[in-house]
Amino acid sequence: MSKVTFLSGEHVPLEMHKVRMVQKINLRPVEERLQHMQEAGFNTFLLKNRDVFLDMLTDSGVNAMSENQYAAMFQADDSYAGSETYYRLESVLQDMFGTKHFLPVHQGRAAENIIAQTLVTPGSTVLMNYHFTTTKAHISIRGGLVEEIIIDEGRSISSTLPFKGNLDIDKLTEAIARLGAENISFVRVEAGTNLVGGQPVSMQNIREVSRVCRAAGIITVFDASLLADNLYFIKTRDADFADIDLKAITREMGALMDITYFSARKLGAARGGGILTSCDTLAGKMREMIPLYEGFLTYGGMSVREMEAMAVGLRETLDMDVISQTPIFVEALAKELIAKGVPVVTPPGGLGCHVDAGSFCDHIPQPEYPAGALAAALYIASGVRGMERGTMSEQRRKDGTEPLAEMELVRLAVPKRVFTLSQIKYTADRLDWLYQNRNLIGGLTFSEEPAVLRFFFGRLAPLGDWPERLAAQFRRDFGDSL
Ligand code: F0G
Repeated sequence: MSKVTFLSGEHVPLEMHKVRMVQKINLRPVEERLQHMQEAGFNTFLLKNRDVFLDMLTDSGVNAMSENQYAAMFQADDSYAGSETYYRLESVLQDMFGTKHFLPVHQGRAAENIIAQTLVTPGSTVLMNYHFTTTKAHISIRGGLVEEIIIDEGRSISSTLPFKGNLDIDKLTEAIARLGAENISFVRVEAGTNLVGGQPVSMQNIREVSRVCRAAGIITVFDASLLADNLYFIKTRDADFADIDLKAITREMGALMDITYFSARKLGAARGGGILTSCDTLAGKMREMIPLYEGFLTYGGMSVREMEAMAVGLRETLDMDVISQTPIFVEALAKELIAKGVPVVTPPGGLGCHVDAGSFCDHIPQPEYPAGALAAALYIASGVRGMERGTMSEQRRKDGTEPLAEMELVRLAVPKRVFTLSQIKYTADRLDWLYQNRNLIGGLTFSEEPAVLRFFFGRLAPLGDWPERLAAQFRRDFGDSL
């Protein structure tokens, strides 16, 4: 993709695929968008897809599948136990990660549930570069504590560091000395740290974490959900790996970590998940829970058709043309926004472009959810659905107080091979307008707040009539344009 240079010298993201199946999408007029946002309680999760123009909520379960993935679905072997589909998928995973056991689960958080139930005891700590919402919820519900040991630069919005998702090895050794290895349930490495902008971890860092943990007798867990983007960054940002095969890199990761798990809604462009390990004891303990929570050991709650698509999708993850499309489009969107002065997380990461709502809406105090407000305002201004990744996505403490997120981000996910460059440009254009009119955006407050993972289905109300004023300004500036 990046090897093609245009006559002008420009590097234009060039799609290395053609589109042979399409879905019509709707761009409603701004007055209707305002009404839909009100009906959705100012929570982009509650919008109906029929009213969304570009769905940049997530890259989870919505990546474009290849023709070979669809074709594979027809050979699925429907049987409760011993399905041939399971063995096909198992052999792809064994080949890719070099691990011995594969436990199927219905999605990533199901793996997190089983790993937490197996390893987390009340009062113990899980060290990790950065938490993910569902990961933390499963650890907390078992009485475990989460401590983040990402490098300091990982917590900054703008940087030029290529691997901002790295764990800080000094913090890791300090935490082991302070807590005692026996009080650490496991150390979790999240490839492509989701909540801080899809920032990758380096291979060197994974090696060091593994070395320190193995010396201390601590189990390591690798969240490979965002591995595809992380692999792309290892290949393109670390000269030592430029000529190393993607499979060789993946197999080394599989060998360095005691347990690897993934959401196949992201990795493998299908819907499902899995847990991998070469350790017989760990596999034995976790295996018992698969039939209890997921389904029999050869399907784990997944449709065999999805498992076939996953097997092909995982193999396709080892192709640079396939995995480069998202990071290159994310970079293109980030560059357009930076050129217009819109603050975004840098360097651009995987998964999506992350707009810095803290600075975009610096007039909105954090307890009024600047990132939630910006996500709502962006939908009104464009029909683009992004996701709040800030204080709304945090969980209240037991005493009812609210932790303020370190970063207030709006994530504009770029699912694999779904959008075109003109759609990316449209998104940048509407964000440009919104940035110029940012003082019109106001805060939000919860009107209905669920106790767990409140960002999914909580409802909010605007503080004042800012949504109406924003829509009216849009109409004045854009005339009869949608
Ligand atoms: N780990 C990471 C890093 C994730 O990004 C996700 C999901 C999960 C685990 C859980 O996987 O959804 O299959 O249960 N991330 C989605 C997102 C939800 O939109 O970023 P799951």
